[in-house]
Amino acid sequence: MKYALTYDDIQLVPELSEIKTRIDISLETLISRRYGLLTPLVASPMDTICELDMAFKMFLLGGVGCIHRFMSIEEQCDQIKMLHYKIYGEGFSGPFENWGIMLDNWHSEIKMIPIMAAIGVKTEDKDRAVQLVDAGVNILLIDVAHGHHKNVADMITWCKKNLPNIVDVIAGNIVTQDATKYLEDAGADGLRVGIGGGSLCTTRVKTGFGVPNVTALEDVISVAKTPVIADGGIRTSGDISKALAVGSSSVMLGSLIAGTDETPGKIIETPLYGLHKRYRGSASLETKITHNIKERNVEGESTIVPYKGGVKFIINGIIDGLKSALSYSGANNLSEFRPKYRVVTTAGLIESTPHLLK
Ligand code: XMP
Repeated sequence: MKYALTYDDIQLVPELSEIKTRIDISLETLISRRYGLLTPLVASPMDTICELDMAFKMFLLGGVGCIHRFMSIEEQCDQIKMLHYKIYGEGFSGPFENWGIMLDNWHSEIKMIPIMAAIGVKTEDKDRAVQLVDAGVNILLIDVAHGHHKNVADMITWCKKNLPNIVDVIAGNIVTQDATKYLEDAGADGLRVGIGGGSLCTTRVKTGFGVPNVTALEDVISVAKTPVIADGGIRTSGDISKALAVGSSSVMLGSLIAGTDETPGKIIETPLYGLHKRYRGSASLETKITHNIKERNVEGESTIVPYKGGVKFIINGIIDGLKSALSYSGANNLSEFRPKYRVVTTAGLIESTPHLLK
C-alpha cells in the first residue's frame, strides 16, 4: 500500500540562506511549454472566479486568469478581445517585457503575454478553440474533470494540428504518471494536476477516486517534461509554497480568490453575517442549472463566501509569503527552490498553527 500525502501532511525544512533582501527574489515561472509568468498564480476557469475583470487584474499582478467556458463562444471571444484591448490597447510595458520569453534555456521568437481560455472536448469545442485563437488566445486549457481520457488526447492532437503554432495547449486534470505520459505523447504543452482536492469538490466522496495533492504532484512531476499547474485545495501561501517546492511551476486558485471584487457575480448582503459573494463548483447542480447543462452528474457544491475586497490584497499577501518561503530555503528563484520536507503528525500540524488562539 502506498501512502498519499497532501499539503497539511508535510512541512518544508529550512536550508542555509544567503539572501540579503527579499526584493531581489524572482517568482518568474512557466505556465506552459512556451509561456512565462512573473508570478506563479493562475485564476481557475470557474464561472464564479474568472472572467474579464479577474483575468485583467491577474495580468497586472504578474499571473494569468483563465476565462471560463460556461458561456457562448461569442461571449467568451468578446471577453478575450476586451482583455486583449485592455492589455495591449493601453500600451502596457515595463515589467511585462519579460513575459513569454523564457528563463533558463528556453529560446523563442515568441514574446507574448499569456492570454488563456478554457475549452471542453465536444465537437463544438473545436469551433470554440478556433474562434478563441482568432480573438487572441494563445493558451488553451482543456478543462475536463478526468483528463486521462481519449477525448482529451484527441482534442490536444486536433488543436496542435489545426491551430497556429503560437498556441500552447494545457490539459488535465490528472494525478498519475501514466496520464502524464499519455497527454504529453498527445502533444500537451502543460498539465493541470489535482483530482477531488478542490474546496467544493465531491468527486472523492461520490466516487472514491482522487489522489491527495502532494503525492499527485510528485507522481506527475517525476515524469513530466512540461510545466505543471497544481490545482485545487490551496488555502494559504504556505500551501502554494509546498506545491512549488515539490516541483509545480504554478498553482491554480479558486476559493482563495473567491469573493473578491474581480470575480463575476454580485455582492450579497446577509442581515446577520455581512457581505458575501457566490462561489460554486463547475460540476455543482447550481452551475448546471444556471447554464442549462443537460448532463446532471453533480460532483461539486455551491456556497457563499465572505466578500474580500480587491484581489490584489490577497495576491500581494501570497507574493510576500512566497518570497519569504524562498528566503527560508536560500533560493533566489523558483528553479532553485527545492527544499526537502518532513511528514508531520497531527500534533505537528496543530503546532504549525497559532494554537494559543484555538
Ligand atoms: P479550490 O480549492 O482552489 O479548488 O477552491 C478549485 C479547483 O476545484 C476544481 N473544481 C471542481 N472539482 N467538482 C470537482 O470535483 C467541481 O464541481 C469543481 N469545480 C471546480 C477545479 O479544478 C478548480 O480549479
